[in-house]
Amino acid sequence: MTFQDMPKVELHLHLEGAAPSKFIAGLAQEKNIDISKIFDAKGDYAYDGFDEFLSTYEAACEPLKTPQDFYRLTMAVLEETAKHGVVYAETFVSPDFCGGGDVGAWREYLDAMTRASVDAERDFGITLRGIVTAIRHFGPEQAKTAARCAAETKGDFVVGFGMAGAEMVGRPKDYAYSFDMAREAGLPLTCHAGEWDGPDMVADTIRDLGVSRIGHGINAVQDPKLLAEIAEKGIVLEVCPGSNVVLGAVPDWQSHPIVKLRDAGVPITVSTDDPPFFHTTMTYEYDMLAKTFGWGAEDFAVLNQTGLKAAYCDDATRAMIAKKLEAAQ
Ligand code: HPA
Ligand code: ZN
Repeated sequence: MTFQDMPKVELHLHLEGAAPSKFIAGLAQEKNIDISKIFDAKGDYAYDGFDEFLSTYEAACEPLKTPQDFYRLTMAVLEETAKHGVVYAETFVSPDFCGGGDVGAWREYLDAMTRASVDAERDFGITLRGIVTAIRHFGPEQAKTAARCAAETKGDFVVGFGMAGAEMVGRPKDYAYSFDMAREAGLPLTCHAGEWDGPDMVADTIRDLGVSRIGHGINAVQDPKLLAEIAEKGIVLEVCPGSNVVLGAVPDWQSHPIVKLRDAGVPITVSTDDPPFFHTTMTYEYDMLAKTFGWGAEDFAVLNQTGLKAAYCDDATRAMIAKKLEAAQ
């Protein structure tokens, strides 16, 4: 079995960030929106560094206007993701890009994404769940509207709440109200931290937001006591090595701390984050882990078991995915 065929669990995938650049360019053309500045001569997304990545990402969202656009986006992303063996994915979706935080509008977008996930499960054999995501640099007030959308629509598709965006904006406690609201609605929580900032950001995120998973979290490696705490609490890191290398959070694959994190007993998973932006796929991530660190089928089986255990889906879904993972053993 090749790495591509191997069934996989992917927990950290931004829906808009997974949009193939051709899909976004085509949609922009249909709607007469000029976002040519975000593409290079080959038609790939073009940006330099994390801040520009975020603004390019937001510009790429401009042609995504209607619930039907999100139906098409979800289908396009799942078709691509399934090609790389992913049988279960969780995707970050933001009400900020789906009706601006209005709960009524959000329900319509959510309905479109849910329909797409059902159709993609039938057509491509991939199961998708959604994590409603606040955008940190839009500020704590806007985060509350995202949390409200999450709390009001928890259900078969919406299974978690999280936060992405510019990590250096504010401190975790500034967003505690939103995370409390989502937790009280019964949603499990994840937050990007320790991608850019140091171990203190990871520690504060765990303490002040009560998350069960951390997006990236790689800079926790700088603090052995924190690593021990993460391992002891069983907090799962959603590690995205290819993203870290391309954005410059680490200098190269060889220096990525994923092995140190794993050796410290931290539960780790592997994801692509925003695959077309980072010229990656789940197959490429596995190929690079194999090439750089000598990882093989057993290492990847553990990653996927950790991912499935940490997934926010219900137990019936977890059991169904477990069978798909086992069938390939
Ligand atoms: N970090 C923070 N915010 C993001 C990312 C990321 O890697 N991808 C999309 N939004
Ligand atoms: Zn991310």
